[in-house]
Amino acid sequence: MTDVVIRRVERSDLPALLAIYNHYVVHTPVTFDVEPRTLAQRQVWLDTFASSGRYQCFVAARDSQAIGWACSGKFKEKAAYETSVETSIYLAPGEQSKGLGRKLYETLLSALAKEDLHRAFGGVTLPNEGSVGVHRALGFSLVGTYPEVGRKFGRFWDVAWFGRPFR
Ligand SMILES: CC(C)(COP(=O)(O)OP(=O)(O)OC[C@H]1O[C@@H](n2cnc3c(N)ncnc32)[C@H](O)[C@@H]1OP(=O)(O)O)[C@@H](O)C(=O)NCCC(=O)NCCS
Repeated sequence: MTDVVIRRVERSDLPALLAIYNHYVVHTPVTFDVEPRTLAQRQVWLDTFASSGRYQCFVAARDSQAIGWACSGKFKEKAAYETSVETSIYLAPGEQSKGLGRKLYETLLSALAKEDLHRAFGGVTLPNEGSVGVHRALGFSLVGTYPEVGRKFGRFWDVAWFGRPFR
């Protein structure tokens, strides 16, 4: 992993991040998007991040190519939810189980700890041992599970929500 750099997301990362995301959209229930996203749609997502504040995004990069990300976004629209964020983390296929997820998530969570935030939450479509593993490893615990909350590939999926405090 010494050849991998963790840094803030940049505009030029977008095509690589889109390709990774669309792999999971098309082939897995990990995300509940069902159609591949376009560059323009993902640009809107990218534009929500800043180098400080509640919504930040870090990438893992090898030879300048992004191979994964960990980001925070709005948990819910209504104002009193603003002290909570929803976090998400994705690695390119083939980059899993090498400790990269932990490194990325640690970087994101320590940056967010400086902000006016109280809780982080992550939703995990079950089963997903890697995602449950990385959430538990980073201090998240199970809040509860929405049973059969989404339908993809012709079947219903449970989503487990994990949460952790910032302080
Ligand atoms: C989920 C994901 C980001 C985890 O990252 P990763 O690099 O594979 O995980 P790491 O190697 O950093 O492991 C982090 C911790 O989780 C645990 N873990 C990882 N994979 C595991 C598995 N299959 N079973 C049990 N525990 C696991 C590790 O033991 C580790 O704990 P430790 O550091 O205390 O030893 C990555 O697997 C991934 O991108 N998966 C596909 C996309 C996805 O599912 N994203 C999450 C959407 S909710």
